[in-house]
Amino acid sequence: KKDFSKLTTTKDGQLLLEKAAHDQVETVWERFEAQQPHCGFCEMGLSCRICAMGPCRIDPFGEGPSRGACGADADIIVARNLGRMVAAGAAAHSDHGRDLVEVLAKVAQGKAPGYKIGSPEKLRTLAGVYGLEIEGKSDTELAADLAHAMEEEYGTRQERLTMVNRAPDPRLELWEKLGVMPRGVDRETSEMMHRTHMGVDNDWVRLCLHGVRNALSDGWGGSLIATEVSDILFGVPKPTKSQVNLGVLKEDQVNIIVHGHNPVVSETITLAASDPDLLALAEQKGAKGINLVGLCCTGNELLMRHGIPMAGNHLMSELTLVTGAVEMMIVDYQCIMPSLGSVATCYHTKMISTSDKAGFPQMEHREFHPEIALDLARELVKEAVENYELRNPDKVYLPVEPVEMYGGFSVEAILEALGGTPTPLIEAIKAGKIRGAVGVVGCNNPKIKHDLGHVELTKRLIENDILVLDTGCAAVANAKAGLKLPEAAELAGPGLKEICQALGIPPVLHVGSCVDNSRILVLAGALADALGVDISALPLAGAAPEWYSEKAVSIGVYFVASGVYTVLGVMPPITGSMNVVGLLTKGLDDVIGATFDVEPDPDKAALLIRAHIEKKRKELGLDA
Ligand code: SF4
Ligand code: FE2
Repeated sequence: KKDFSKLTTTKDGQLLLEKAAHDQVETVWERFEAQQPHCGFCEMGLSCRICAMGPCRIDPFGEGPSRGACGADADIIVARNLGRMVAAGAAAHSDHGRDLVEVLAKVAQGKAPGYKIGSPEKLRTLAGVYGLEIEGKSDTELAADLAHAMEEEYGTRQERLTMVNRAPDPRLELWEKLGVMPRGVDRETSEMMHRTHMGVDNDWVRLCLHGVRNALSDGWGGSLIATEVSDILFGVPKPTKSQVNLGVLKEDQVNIIVHGHNPVVSETITLAASDPDLLALAEQKGAKGINLVGLCCTGNELLMRHGIPMAGNHLMSELTLVTGAVEMMIVDYQCIMPSLGSVATCYHTKMISTSDKAGFPQMEHREFHPEIALDLARELVKEAVENYELRNPDKVYLPVEPVEMYGGFSVEAILEALGGTPTPLIEAIKAGKIRGAVGVVGCNNPKIKHDLGHVELTKRLIENDILVLDTGCAAVANAKAGLKLPEAAELAGPGLKEICQALGIPPVLHVGSCVDNSRILVLAGALADALGVDISALPLAGAAPEWYSEKAVSIGVYFVASGVYTVLGVMPPITGSMNVVGLLTKGLDDVIGATFDVEPDPDKAALLIRAHIEKKRKELGLDA
C-alpha cells in the first residue's frame, strides 16, 4: 500500500489519494513520477527549440557542443528561455486583466446585464489615477472613460504605463535610468517574443533586463488592472469569514465548483446559485440547497468578496472530483489540468469550459460573453441541479470537516483595520514588535510535498514576529493549516501576537488571488512612501515555496524588480548559465536593490528571509 503522506501534508489529500487509487483514477503525482528522471538539459535550461535548425542542446560538462547550430551559447539559450517564461506569465495575467476591462466597457455601454459597478468609490479612485475628468460624470460615463484609458495601457500609444505611477518615486527614477520602464502591457510581451527570436537579442544581460521590464508590465500593469477592475465591478474585499478544504462539499446539496482565475464567470454563477427558482428546483430533486465552492484563484476571488468556501488549491483539483460529490465543475482559464475531463468520466460530474481561449478534452464548451453571461449561468446551474439525481451515493466520500478561516484583506481593508493609515503598522515595525512582512505566494508543485513549503515557511516566519500576506495556492494552504484564524496569533512571536490580538486579525492575511499580488506591491509602495524611502529599503521579502507556473516566474521577477528580495522553493531552469544565475542571485542587487535566492527547505528559507529582514532593519537604523 502506498504511503500518500509522502506526497501531501493534507489529511483530505491523503484520504482522497487513497480513494483515487481505489477508483483507478490517475493523478498528477503518478504522471509526474512517470516523467522521472527529468531531462537534465531541459532542467538546466540548456535545450533550445526556438528555430527549425534545432532543437539544439549545450553539454554542461563541456564535452559535447558548447553552441547551438546558430551559434547561441549557454548564456543566450538560458536567457532566451527564461525571457519566454516571463512573457508567457505576463501575457496570462495581462490578458485576464484585458477581459475585465472589456466587461467594464460593456457595462458602460449597457451591454452586460448581470454586471454592474460594484464599487463607485474605487471607480473614482482609478479615474483619479488616470487623470480623468470626474466632475459631473455618472458612473457609467466614468466607466467608459476608464475602460478606454486602460485599453490604451495595452498598446503602443504611450512611453510609459499610467498605472506604474503608483510606484514610489525612487523606484520610478531607477526604472527610467535602467531603461526598464514598461511602456505598453502587450508591447513588452510582444517585444520579448521578438527579442528571443533567433538572431535578435543575443546579449544575455539585456535580455534579462527586458525580462524585468516585461514582468513590470504585468505587476504594475496587467495584474494591477485585473485587480482594480475586479474591485470596481465586484466590490473591494473586506474581512470575511469562510471555510476551506474538501469538507466544504456537502453530502446533501448540489455541489458546483468554479475553477480557474477570472471572476467574470464565477461571479455570475454566484448570482445564479442563489436564484430562488433554482433553489426550489434543487429541493424538488431532493437536495437541501445549492452549494457553490471555489478552487484555485477564481475561488480566491469569490472567497475574498463573498466568503464563498474554498475546496482546495492546485494539487487538489483532481481530488475534488474523486469525492464523487460534485454535480458540475465550471472552468475558465489558467492552471486547469487537461486531465480533469477524464477524471470526471469516473463519476457523474458535468465538466464545463467557458472561455473562447481555453479548451479542454472531455469537457462541454459553453462560451461566456458579457451579453449572455447571466442567462448562461442560470442554465448551467439548472443543469447542475438536474444532475444531482445521477449522483451515486456509493461513490461519495467526504471524510473531513472544513477548517474555519478569514479572508478579504485588500489594502483598503488592511488600512481600515489600522484606523485609516499605515502609521500603526509602521510604528509596530519601528518598535520591532513586527520585524517585517513577507508575501508568501504561488502555486503547488509535485516536486515539493503538497503544502509543506507554504505552511512550514509561514509558521517559521510568524513565530519570529514576521507578518505574512499570502495569495493564490499559498493562501489556501495556510488557510487549511488553520493559520487564518485570529486564534492562530497564539502561534506567532510575542510582538506579532500582541498586535494581532489588539486588532483581532490573524497573523497570516489573505490578500487574494495571484493577480492580487499587485495588492502587495501597492501596500509596499504605500509603506515606502510613508517612510520616505524606496521599497528596497524596507524589511520585506517575497517567497514562492511551491511555484510551478510561468505566471509565477513573472511574479517573482516583478517582486525583485520592485525591490523585494524573493526566495523560490523550486529551481528555475537556469543553472546551465552561471552568468544568469549570478545576475539573478547577486548582480541584480547593485542594479535593482533586490535579488532572488533558491531554497527548497522551508526552515532554511525562513533563515534567509529573517537574515534579510534584520539586515534591512539595521540599514534603516530601526534597532539602534
Ligand atoms: Fe538551435 Fe539556435 Fe535554433 Fe535554438 S535558435 S534551436 S540554439 S539553431
Ligand atoms: Fe492563481
